[in-house]
Amino acid sequence: MAVLGITVALLCWLAILLLVSVWKQVHSSWNLPPGPFPLPIVGNLLQLELKNIPKSLNKMAERFGPVFTLYLGPRRVVVLHGYKAVREALLDHKSELSGRGYIPAFQEHRNKGVIFNNGPTWKDTRRFSLMVLRDYGMGKQGNEERIQREIPFLLEELRKTKGQPFDPTFVIGCAPFNVIADILFCKHFDYNDKKCLRLMSLFNENFYLLSTTWLEFYNNFSSYLHYLPGSHRKVLKNVSEIREYVSARLKEHHQSLDPTCPRDFTDCLLAEMEKRKHSAEPLYTLDNISVTVADMFFAGTETTSTTLRYGLLILMKHPEIEEKLHEEIDRVIGPSRVPATKDRMQMPYMDAVVHEIQRFISLVPSNLPHEATQDTRFRGYVIPKGTTVIPTLTSVLHDSKEFPEPEKFKPEHFLDERGKFKYSDYFKPFSAGKRVCVGEGLARMELFLFLTAILQNFNLKSLVHPKDIDLSPMTIGFGNVPPHYKLCVIPRS
Ligand code: HEM
Repeated sequence: MAVLGITVALLCWLAILLLVSVWKQVHSSWNLPPGPFPLPIVGNLLQLELKNIPKSLNKMAERFGPVFTLYLGPRRVVVLHGYKAVREALLDHKSELSGRGYIPAFQEHRNKGVIFNNGPTWKDTRRFSLMVLRDYGMGKQGNEERIQREIPFLLEELRKTKGQPFDPTFVIGCAPFNVIADILFCKHFDYNDKKCLRLMSLFNENFYLLSTTWLEFYNNFSSYLHYLPGSHRKVLKNVSEIREYVSARLKEHHQSLDPTCPRDFTDCLLAEMEKRKHSAEPLYTLDNISVTVADMFFAGTETTSTTLRYGLLILMKHPEIEEKLHEEIDRVIGPSRVPATKDRMQMPYMDAVVHEIQRFISLVPSNLPHEATQDTRFRGYVIPKGTTVIPTLTSVLHDSKEFPEPEKFKPEHFLDERGKFKYSDYFKPFSAGKRVCVGEGLARMELFLFLTAILQNFNLKSLVHPKDIDLSPMTIGFGNVPPHYKLCVIPRS
């Protein structure tokens, strides 16, 4: 018995030695960045705090430096931490590291559209989408007017609450929803429209579920977990339901399409599809268009909506900041004129607050995963083709040298000593380089105009004492999801 025990122990020991030496060999032959030793199957997952991965990555960066290798289950990942490493990867190696890492929860979008496309159509789809978005964003019927047209609807809906407590999720969310619906489908929804509320709840639920531990697991072990019950099924179902809605709009648009006179983003893509129908490499199929439009739809709604919702909670925690904003709005715009983008130049405090909201909440803390499109030399290491690369955004947005006390909400992070707006190159909530957010310009305009309009017309009232407001995210994963809360808005005149 004792002999058997010793033999088994020896065999285990040998197996571990073998594993370590194979791992070391693989590592040194590829010259991968350093990192913790991975266990079979789970990799380094057990060394991570799955409820707060950005925090674990911070700790690992202290140990291994700004570029390190991790194994999330079977997947090899190179993490880039801090301004210099992230900037270098996104800007100096922009082609080699611009692939998109696979996100199994969005398998339906894989290699189609823009966001989850890691295939040959990504570049052209992105370029064409950006061009159309730019065309729709400029001129008389551009984004500024589009947002300004939406403001009275939002204010009216807020007035209807009559100073009573309400959950801002859908009221506030409907404003960016309508802006993007107008760009994509030339459509405007009533704030109580069932379809609009349903779609927003799908976006909202997915953003929440994607940020939970289970989805973190699913995205790394999808081949094992796919057929098991769990919230990943809900995410996949929600993605399909959004696609169905978009496909139905596409069908309607296709039937009534006049390629010489496109009505919206969808028409522009359909017209391009018709134009290239007989070319050797048709860029667009109906399938690719519906994923592209669905990408814009949820990315264009949930991000801006969550930022606004988080922003209002932060302002209730800091009534002294809200007070200064009211003062600046009254001085520059007055009580009745609809805010305009030109006002931003004269409103450094509001500008700084909007930047600080985005910096503080770090909405997409670990960024979306990138992928090395070829073997890439990076700081003396080699990142092999196909490796997932994570250029973490929180590590840049919460840099303590650039933003002293980064965990505190301080508009002064973006103000100089004379109270003028202070630019920071560390402000990267939209990432940078070839994958930089397609909607950055639109989102920034919406955040400034909607927030200014709300504060021009209302005082925010919390249901609890400001010091009891907890700003910690409800869950941290794909996104930093704000806690549920209610508030009252009290008309200012
Ligand atoms: C506060 C608002 C927003 C934030 C914080 C945000 C953030 C981001 C981030 C971090 C990425 C990943 C970049 C990377 O992979 O390096 C991204 C990608 C993207 N965003 Fe946004 N976004 C916002 C609003 C929008 C809006 C309004 C739209 C649509 C009009 C949009 C459309 C996209 C698209 C299509 C991509 C994929 C780009 C690609 O893979 O080539 N986003 N965004």
